[in-house]
Amino acid sequence: MKRIRSVGIVGTGSYVPPNILTNSDLEKMVDTSDTWIVERTGIRERRISSPETTASCLGLPASLAALQSAGVSPEDVDLIIVATSTPDMTFPSTACFIQDKIGASRAACFDISAACTGFSYALETGQQFIATSTYKTALIVGTEVISKVIDWTDRNTCILFGDGAGAAVLQPVADNYGILATSLGADGRLASILDLPVAGCIRMSGREVFKVAVNTMIEAVEKVLDRAKISQKDVSLLIPHQANIRIIEAMGKRLNISTDRVFVNLQKYGNVSAGSTIIALDEAVKQGRVGDGDIIVIVAFGGGLTWGATVMRWGGNL
Ligand code: ACO
Repeated sequence: MKRIRSVGIVGTGSYVPPNILTNSDLEKMVDTSDTWIVERTGIRERRISSPETTASCLGLPASLAALQSAGVSPEDVDLIIVATSTPDMTFPSTACFIQDKIGASRAACFDISAACTGFSYALETGQQFIATSTYKTALIVGTEVISKVIDWTDRNTCILFGDGAGAAVLQPVADNYGILATSLGADGRLASILDLPVAGCIRMSGREVFKVAVNTMIEAVEKVLDRAKISQKDVSLLIPHQANIRIIEAMGKRLNISTDRVFVNLQKYGNVSAGSTIIALDEAVKQGRVGDGDIIVIVAFGGGLTWGATVMRWGGNL
């Protein structure tokens, strides 16, 4: 596909609520153990928001940080897309609430529903608007107060998730920089193995999700690398959805991407759903693990089932 102009991430930000729930805290709530959780998932602790906190409350500091790192003022934002499974309300969209909170009065706003793949879907949607010159600046937010849709008596799910938000600013970048290829996918036939009924709690067949997750994410990464004509050995950093360390390790191994080139922060936050990969990318940037010209691959999967991968060359800010 001919791209009208190259589009890249020119700023990132993230925010997690301060309250930490450790595995030993969970031992007092359900029949589980720190050893089981660490061995099966890699997760050690997660953040839990206060009862009055909404997705837009977490999205606000993440958005402001992303705008600041991009050197963009809220009035310059043309479009806000929020990926979330835990919106403030059914409507208005969480994007509208964030627009008001940051004062981005010119921006068009909408939400995207693709569960844990939400940020990947939102990133590609925003990219399309800028590539076609419809807009110049988009704010893409992944934010979740997933703790509010967890059954805290179900040990199969309650140990896995945490709250948080991440944001990215998209703008045109120099040729051959920015997003090089994206692959999004879905299989609605598998909807029932991971879902969140309206006014209900997350339900999951963990083992089934695990198998599909590894295979679909590997295929999605192979597809985008192939499309961008980039070899696995040239990937500087793989940023996978932070759901389970065993999924991430299996994927890294099969893709032949060494562990030092795979970013992991799930031990601190658990699975933050649509916030997962963008929080990870922001932390990688802050840790100096993402440099100009680096090849970054983001890959995610989630309810739907949905999955998506994006390969980008970092930098090229105009
Ligand atoms: N503590 C102790 N034991 C537990 C716990 C727990 N918290 N949870 C389950 N068990 C038990 C089970 O009851 C089972 O016992 P049994 O053998 O007596 O029946 C045993 O541990 C093994 O259970 P499995 O489900 O087979 O364990 P598995 O190794 O598959 O790990 C896990 C479970 C961690 C959920 C894993 O399957 C997984 O990570 N799956 C992918 C989930 C995922 O990534 N979901 C994210 C999608 S996010 C989104 O879109 C919102």
